[in-house]
Amino acid sequence: MGAMHESLATAGQIDGDTAASRDAFIGNMRCVANAVSVVTTDGAAGRHGATVSAFCSVSADPPTVLVCLKTDSRIARLVKANGVLALNVLGADQSPLAVRFAGGEDASLTAVQGRSDGVCDRFVGVALDARFSQPVLTGAIGFCGVVRQMHDAGSHTVCIAEVEALAQSDAQPLVYHDGGYQRITPVAQEPQHG
Ligand SMILES: Cc1cc2nc3c(=O)[nH]c(=O)nc-3n(C[C@H](O)[C@H](O)[C@H](O)COP(=O)(O)O)c2cc1C
Repeated sequence: MGAMHESLATAGQIDGDTAASRDAFIGNMRCVANAVSVVTTDGAAGRHGATVSAFCSVSADPPTVLVCLKTDSRIARLVKANGVLALNVLGADQSPLAVRFAGGEDASLTAVQGRSDGVCDRFVGVALDARFSQPVLTGAIGFCGVVRQMHDAGSHTVCIAEVEALAQSDAQPLVYHDGGYQRITPVAQEPQHG
C-alpha cells in the first residue's frame, strides 16, 4: 500500500514528454483497444441505454462487473435510480447500435418522437431478448445485474454490479480503437520450436 501511495504522489511531479496531461492521457487511450458495449437500464426511473468502452470483469465469486459512467449523464442517473443494469457486449456487425446508443441518432429520434425536451427513446426498432427483465440487445453477450456499489472518480462514477443473468453469443467482438470501430483478426502463429 505504501509503495502505491508513493508512486501516486510523485505522478504529478514528472516533467517533459512523460507528463500525464489530459491530452496525452486521451492520446494514450486512443491506442488502447476496447470491446464496445451498451449499458442499459429499465425501472421506475425509466429506460435508457448508452455506448460504453469502460466495462470490465471484477470477480467470478460472486460474478461481478464494473462500468464507468460520466456522473452527470442521463444513463448514470437512471442506473443509480433503477439500481439495475445490463451490459451488452456488441458483435462486429452491431456498430450501428454503438452509434445509436452513443447518441448519434438522438436528433432524428427526438424529432420523429415529437419530443420538445430533447429526451428520446434510443430503443425504437431495436430487437430485445424477452427472456430478461433488463434490456438485453439481441445478438449481444449480456450481463444483467444489480448495482451493489457506486464510487465517484473524477468526472465519472464507477458502478459495480453483481451479475444475476447471462445472455450468450458466438459473434466476433466489435472493438473500438484509434477513434473507430474495428474487427479483430487472428495473429499468425509462429511455429513452436524445441
Ligand atoms: C466507443 C464509445 C465509447 C464510450 N464509452 C463511454 C464510457 O465508457 N462511459 C461513458 O460514460 N460514456 C461513454 N461514451 C459516451 C456515451 O455513449 C455518450 O455520452 C452517450 O450519449 C451517453 O448517453 P446519455 O448522455 O443520454 O446518458 C462512449 C461513446 C463511444 C462512441
